[in-house]
Amino acid sequence: MEIAGTAALVTGGASGLGAATARRLAVDGVKIVVVDLQDDLGEAVADQVGGMYVHADVTDADQVQAGVNAAAQMGPLRILVNCAGVAPPARTLSRDGEPHDLRHFEQVIAINLVGTFNCVRLAAVAMAKNDPLDNGERGAIVNTASVAAFDGQIGQAAYSASKGGIVGLTLPIARDLSSVGVRVNTIAPGIMDTPMLAGLPEPAKESLAEQVLFPKRLGTTEEFADLAHFLVTHSYMNGETIRMDGGIRMAPK
Ligand SMILES: NC(=O)c1ccc[n+]([C@@H]2O[C@H](COP(=O)([O-])OP(=O)(O)OC[C@H]3O[C@@H](n4cnc5c(N)ncnc54)[C@H](O)[C@@H]3O)[C@@H](O)[C@H]2O)c1
Repeated sequence: MEIAGTAALVTGGASGLGAATARRLAVDGVKIVVVDLQDDLGEAVADQVGGMYVHADVTDADQVQAGVNAAAQMGPLRILVNCAGVAPPARTLSRDGEPHDLRHFEQVIAINLVGTFNCVRLAAVAMAKNDPLDNGERGAIVNTASVAAFDGQIGQAAYSASKGGIVGLTLPIARDLSSVGVRVNTIAPGIMDTPMLAGLPEPAKESLAEQVLFPKRLGTTEEFADLAHFLVTHSYMNGETIRMDGGIRMAPK
């Protein structure tokens, strides 16, 4: 898909994988709307890429709609990359015998899964109004799951459920949107070097890197952005979830 001069909504664009994706797409002349809750970081990325920052919680319909409207004014909104997400751990049964807090579980599902779908459904309305390209394409959506969708670790019940949900909705949404020429793909990253992992002690990071088959290191944000760019531009990629993980199969902990 030709993307120069089009507009993109990048959620979670203030940090980590989203920020790198915003930068990568901007290199190709895409006008970026960064959607996030971290205003200072979001503004800084938007400035860097010559785009716009919109403060929006991905779970909020009106706030996301404002982001979609802003993007649609900058050019045809043909690209949505969903990177907003959270990963707070909690065990089903704590060491003290306490049950997993249900509100915590619901919040992770709300942000990662419901938030992703909220952005998809609202961006799809704008994409469906685009003039089709010569091959009939109107847009492309990339979601972010995780290898935790497949091999979730101890303490990842909520996170894995949310990411498994994203894997599950990829094909039906691709089917739903095929009639308007919008493709949908999902990236399931392994262990990526982003602020999300900043809380982990260095030995824990080293242990995770050791579990990677090859290369034995964390993935970079640029590697994610390259794959997101590929999925956006490759007109025959649709309905797929791709693990990008150096071959890691995560151990229980
Ligand atoms: N870092 C990893 O190892 C890794 C691995 C697999 C999947 N992922 C997924 O990749 C995505 C990006 O993560 P990252 O590593 O770049 O983390 P990050 O913390 O650097 O970025 C996530 C961004 O999402 C934003 N965000 C959180 N909740 C939001 C909400 N309700 N509305 C709008 N924005 C919100 C945060 O403010 C943050 O800027 C997440 O979905 C994460 O689950 C990360």
